[in-house]
Amino acid sequence: MKILLIGGGFVGVHLMEALKKRGHEVHVADLPAVAAKNPGFLPIDIENLETVRSLFRQVRPDRVFLLAAVSSVALSWRKPDLTVRVNVLGTLNVLTAMKEIIPEARLIYVGSGEEYGTRCSEEHPFDEEMNCDPRNPYAVSKFASGQILELLAVRDRLDIVHLRPSNHFGPGQKEGFVIPDFCSQIVRIERGEQPPVLKVGCLDARRDFLFVEDVVAAYTRIAEASSLPHTVYNLSSGQAHSIREMLDLLLSMSLVPVNVEIDPAKFRPVDVPVLVASSRRAYEDLQWKPAHSLKESLSVTLNWWRTQDAGPDLPGKY
Ligand code: GDD
Repeated sequence: MKILLIGGGFVGVHLMEALKKRGHEVHVADLPAVAAKNPGFLPIDIENLETVRSLFRQVRPDRVFLLAAVSSVALSWRKPDLTVRVNVLGTLNVLTAMKEIIPEARLIYVGSGEEYGTRCSEEHPFDEEMNCDPRNPYAVSKFASGQILELLAVRDRLDIVHLRPSNHFGPGQKEGFVIPDFCSQIVRIERGEQPPVLKVGCLDARRDFLFVEDVVAAYTRIAEASSLPHTVYNLSSGQAHSIREMLDLLLSMSLVPVNVEIDPAKFRPVDVPVLVASSRRAYEDLQWKPAHSLKESLSVTLNWWRTQDAGPDLPGKY
């Protein structure tokens, strides 16, 4: 199968490798500046409809994954305009070009568990039938573009799938998300590049974490399925863990003692207290469920950070 990944960042690179191993022809597209640094990547800017059209004409894929997005909730509070341009108008551009050029293809749109907002609790993990209540600019953008896609797909008889993954982490994820923020600081402290003080934001929030390889396994099944009974799928573990629990697990793996300091600058105007989802539908339709334990996944991720170059930015290589 010919599969196009729009977005060659953290998840895109893991997905590319997994799909290639399964024998698919995979093309990866990203912003021109990113494509220029990654041999084999094709240039695209989803804010520019013409670049999407020409990519679709060139590749003519059977499946398109839309991974490119402003994916940081924290950044979306600082740049709501950019978030709407990329996540909403960019998504519409992809759908428009798909309808014109590759109407038989399947578009796999990566939304977010954040779309549900305050609707869930640990007693009632959200399922796909629940009403959404997005509580930050990122969540609103993912909800809005998902809604528009679903409406237009019905009108134009297009094959789209709207995924709502919960938080995921693993090697290659950049700083700005909680697990990389904690791992990168631990590694700097271990190397003596930072005083032994790890700065954190809100530790009380409870989130449903997945290892990136589990997310990629689900995406692969979604791509390979000949048809799917539903349009929306949650991807989640069904278990909430506080950010404090995640921090404690990582600190237990640190090679040196670390003090923790609350940094008020890391708090957000609104932080949904609990996000936990049911992925029963993905299990029933795709026989997918997460296979990796939290502890093992955190250990793999921290060890990956230990292999990264020294320096103040500890950049991800993806
Ligand atoms: N980033 C970050 N850095 N978050 C921190 C920190 C810190 O130092 N300390 C505490 N937190 C808290 C945040 O306030 C939030 O409650 C939680 O940790 C997780 O934050 P992020 O990792 O930034 O992710 P997110 O939950 O806002 O969003 C992620 O998950 C969504 C799915 O639920 C992103 O990956 C989204 O793209 C994704 O859709």
